[in-house]
Amino acid sequence: MSKTNHAQWSSRFSFILAATGSAVGLGNIWKFPYMVGQSGGAAFVLVYLLCIFLIGLPILVTEWMLGRRGQSNPVTTMSKVAHSAGRTRAWALVGVSGVLGAFLILSFYSVIGGWSLYYTLGSVSGDFAGQSADGIGELFSGMLASPGLLLMWHSIFMLLVIGIVARGVTKGLEGAVNIMMPALALLLVVLIGYGMTTGHFGEAVAYLFNPDWSKLSGETVLAALGHAFFTLSLGMGIMLAYGSYLGQEVNLIKTARTVVIMDTVIALGAGLAIFPIVFANNLDLASGPSLIFVTLPVAFGNIGGGTILGLLFFVLLTFAALTSAISLLEPVTEFLEERTPLSRAPAAIVAGLAAWALGIAALLSFNLWSDFTVVGLGVFDLLDKLTSKFMLPLTGLGAVVFAAWFLNRDEVRKDLELSDSGFTLWTLLTRFVAPIGVLVVFIASL
Ligand code: ALA
Repeated sequence: MSKTNHAQWSSRFSFILAATGSAVGLGNIWKFPYMVGQSGGAAFVLVYLLCIFLIGLPILVTEWMLGRRGQSNPVTTMSKVAHSAGRTRAWALVGVSGVLGAFLILSFYSVIGGWSLYYTLGSVSGDFAGQSADGIGELFSGMLASPGLLLMWHSIFMLLVIGIVARGVTKGLEGAVNIMMPALALLLVVLIGYGMTTGHFGEAVAYLFNPDWSKLSGETVLAALGHAFFTLSLGMGIMLAYGSYLGQEVNLIKTARTVVIMDTVIALGAGLAIFPIVFANNLDLASGPSLIFVTLPVAFGNIGGGTILGLLFFVLLTFAALTSAISLLEPVTEFLEERTPLSRAPAAIVAGLAAWALGIAALLSFNLWSDFTVVGLGVFDLLDKLTSKFMLPLTGLGAVVFAAWFLNRDEVRKDLELSDSGFTLWTLLTRFVAPIGVLVVFIASL
């Protein structure tokens, strides 16, 4: 089926970097802090941590395990693994839904990646300096109102993504994360270091870790679980694809633990970098999606060294977005590469251009097409809701139910190198806790 030898990560370390690069993205630096701000802090954080470790981690391991068994794109992998377990090949639908989900997410993800590039440039050229809150608000709404500007930055971002993925797994994906992930970590440390000097760091820590349970609602739990899927790149075919480049020597559970911890530390770190600045400048933490595109730049425009801090922040955001966007393009590319006559580079180009075209519809929903809605949502919001509320949880659910209930248990246990008690816990989590958790939240969200 595949035309060439299937690629392999060059080492366990490279795989960890790539998977962490996929996990750490706009979800960590953009969404997580504003979700914490909107849902009132630590209560959300604690529910989110429970979701990550009880539901997210087992599904992450499951997706890698399936991908590694299949050694193919997500669709072929699911079909092959199901067939060799004596089950119907219809399980391939889990792969189809994953690949489709990644494709849909990439289309609007790249639009936000474009904002990040635009803001990086804006920081260099001092666009925020001395601006009032209104001025920055206008900068943001002006950007959204301009189809040309959005299109230009969306296109540049997508070109970068295609350029990296076209180069293949080792040269492209690994090459990019080898540079960007250490840089991202360093930038985050510098920004947290700055947060410590503001005199409001303790307040940020308390906000993140001191729960006010009265603020917890069903809505918060829904949001926390949805975000756990998004941030760990689950249900998007990504981890199935990344697992397909893995060798048998890698211990999946230990590796997943490392990746999940790094993803969580970086999300919390983003909070520790952003919140002190927001508190120190008396700004509103509950401003939602505009937190880092309006609220934070107001601070950058008005504090000493703000220009350089703003630049560091938006470079960090861009790196995070890029290392995730390449992982979103990967499953689609791998699929085209293996299931059509296209070779790697043309496959990446075709998949990327298709997502780019859909992204245009998404960016037009902020301006020219703002009146066009489906079930009350513009294209951008529709893509976001459709994927994060429906496709990701259902795809993840399909993968975990398949692996927990339909695969040979001895083989799974051997694959995961588990002790007796470890396997009992694994069975409990994957047969009951994760599927029931996802189902409850899914039904509640309807
Ligand atoms: N996991 C990626 C993120 O958090 C998609 O942005």
